Amino acid sequence: MSADTKIFLIGFMGAGKSSVGKKLAQSLHYRFIDLDVLIEKQQKKSIPSIFELVGEDGFRKIEQQALHSLKDESNIVIATGGGCPTFEKNMQWMNAHGKTIYLKCSIGVLFHRIAPQKKQRPLIANMDDVDIMDFMVTMLKERSKFYEKASFTVDGDGKVEMVCKRILDVM
Ligand code: S3P
Repeated sequence: MSADTKIFLIGFMGAGKSSVGKKLAQSLHYRFIDLDVLIEKQQKKSIPSIFELVGEDGFRKIEQQALHSLKDESNIVIATGGGCPTFEKNMQWMNAHGKTIYLKCSIGVLFHRIAPQKKQRPLIANMDDVDIMDFMVTMLKERSKFYEKASFTVDGDGKVEMVCKRILDVM
C-alpha cells in the first residue's frame, strides 16, 4: 500500500462504515473522517435538518462539496454516507482519488442495525418496519450497481475487529 493515500468506506446505511473506519484508521495510524459529521460541522446543522431545509437533492450537492473538500488530504480513512457513491460521478471521483472499500452486509444485519436508529436517518425516519424492509430491498438493488465499482468488496457482517482484519487482508 502506498504511503500517501485515502481510503473511502462505502456501503448501505448500517454497514458499519463509521465504526469499522475508526478501527481501520487506528490500525493504519491514519486520520478518520466521517463525511456526515464533516457536513454537519461545515453546515452547522444536523443531517436531518439539512434534509428538511434543502431536501435530498440539496443534501447530495452539499455532500459532494464536502467530499471534494477532502481532495488534498492523505493518510486518511473516510466513512461516506450510504447514498454518496450513487450521486453523479462521486464513485468515479473516489476511485480516482483513493481506494474504495465496499462493506457488503446481508439485509438482515443492515435491518437490525438501522431500524432502531431510524430517527437519525431522514430517508427512513417516518417508516414502519415493513416499509423500511421494502425500501432497503429496492435501494440495495439500485445502489449495488455503484457499490460494486469499489476497488475491494469486503464482507461487512460480524464484529468490527473482524471486518477490519478482512479489509487489511485484502488491501
Ligand atoms: C444516507 C445515509 C446516511 C446519511 C443520510 C443519507 C443514505 O449516512 O448520509 O442520512 O442516502 O443512505 P449513513 O450511511 O452513515 O447512515
